[in-house]
Amino acid sequence: MTTDAIIPAGLAAAQAAYAELQGQKLKLNMQRGQPSDADFDLSNGLLTALGETDTHQDGLDLRNYPGGVHGLPSARALFAAYLDLKAENVLVWNNSSLELQGLLLSFALLHGVRGSTGGWVKLLDSQKPKMIVTLPGYDRHFLLLETLGFELLTVAMQPDGPDVDAIARIAGRDASVKGVLFVPTYSNPGGESISAAKAARLAGIKAAAADFTIFADDAYRVHHLSDTDQDAPVNFVTLCRDAGFPDRAFVFASTSKVTFASGGLGFVGSSEDNIAWATKYLNAQSIGPNKLEQARHVRFLAQYEGGLEGLMRDHARLIAPKFQAVYTTLAQELGESGEYATWTTPKGGYFISLDTTEPVAARVVQLADMAGVSLTPAGATYPGGKDPTGRNIRLAPTRPPEAEVFAAMKAVATCIRLATEEYRAGRTA
Ligand SMILES: Cc1ncc(COP(=O)(O)O)c(C=O)c1O
Repeated sequence: MTTDAIIPAGLAAAQAAYAELQGQKLKLNMQRGQPSDADFDLSNGLLTALGETDTHQDGLDLRNYPGGVHGLPSARALFAAYLDLKAENVLVWNNSSLELQGLLLSFALLHGVRGSTGGWVKLLDSQKPKMIVTLPGYDRHFLLLETLGFELLTVAMQPDGPDVDAIARIAGRDASVKGVLFVPTYSNPGGESISAAKAARLAGIKAAAADFTIFADDAYRVHHLSDTDQDAPVNFVTLCRDAGFPDRAFVFASTSKVTFASGGLGFVGSSEDNIAWATKYLNAQSIGPNKLEQARHVRFLAQYEGGLEGLMRDHARLIAPKFQAVYTTLAQELGESGEYATWTTPKGGYFISLDTTEPVAARVVQLADMAGVSLTPAGATYPGGKDPTGRNIRLAPTRPPEAEVFAAMKAVATCIRLATEEYRAGRTA
């Protein structure tokens, strides 16, 4: 009897399909959560939005220091509308909302937030301050929090947002649990959005720590894929105020995926007292943010047809077909019974989360890599890069052209089939 004779038919077919795939010598990248050049081109008007004589705005000289730490008044008003808040509730910073998250978390560690009796690090000599995150989640949240010295506690991201019962349980029993950091709208990687009911419950949970804080990274708040079928973003600042915790929430966002990933604006919304708190500490390390960039955004977005909403509609026209390409190809190649994998079908954001049925995510990423298709490393959606389920893969369809998304997903499906058949035959290579 030859070795071939005992290879199960499913495995043999998957091996043949994979050999054919390798013969195609593909070179595709599905791991970068970046806008495409066509997305960037929509905002090229930013580059000329300020002319040589546009030196002043809001009565301020854009070239000089004065203006304050909380940003240009017109930029605050613009992003207040974005966050559904008043201008006085918003601080507009420089190009990265992640940096702003890091700065505010550092201030909390050193000085505490409003309602704290001291800095979170100083109070907890014997233990680390703890922060709740959702799984699967955003690798840079994990990296940021772990680098700052937080211990991460995890709860599941469910189809209607984080497991709030679990958050209430964890936060309710331990005063060293200082908060939760998560993505409320079109989350990274699964695209889930928190429901209004869950958000209201989270805003009012009884935490052991009086200074328990909700850090909502609303990076994809306006990144809908359709004009009509959208998840509704929530407003944690007003929800927390209404629940009797006026200073409980910070909501972050940026224009990194609205205008330019490297040249956008990060901003934060919170209570007026919290904005004053952040301003106090930012003021000690900066005379103020880049007002030229802020003025440029205000002018560019005002002159764009339909304003910021018009720009987001134009992004959706570019991005939605790529998400559809992922859904269609996976369904065609793997079926929808869950025999090989299941995946999310978000209505917005930048990512799709795929779970293989067997624990073969790392093998899928390896097979894809050997076939010329680069995927987000397996495990990246879990703290420390270690996915205990071995199943999760983040798909990022925004950057490649649509034709490449089709080709890449066909290849990924071939790799999922092979990895699954290998596993089931007890033959993981
Ligand atoms: C959830 C989330 N937050 C923040 C960022 C980065 O934002 P920024 O460029 O404003 O730092 C990303 C980028 O992928 C993201 O997915």
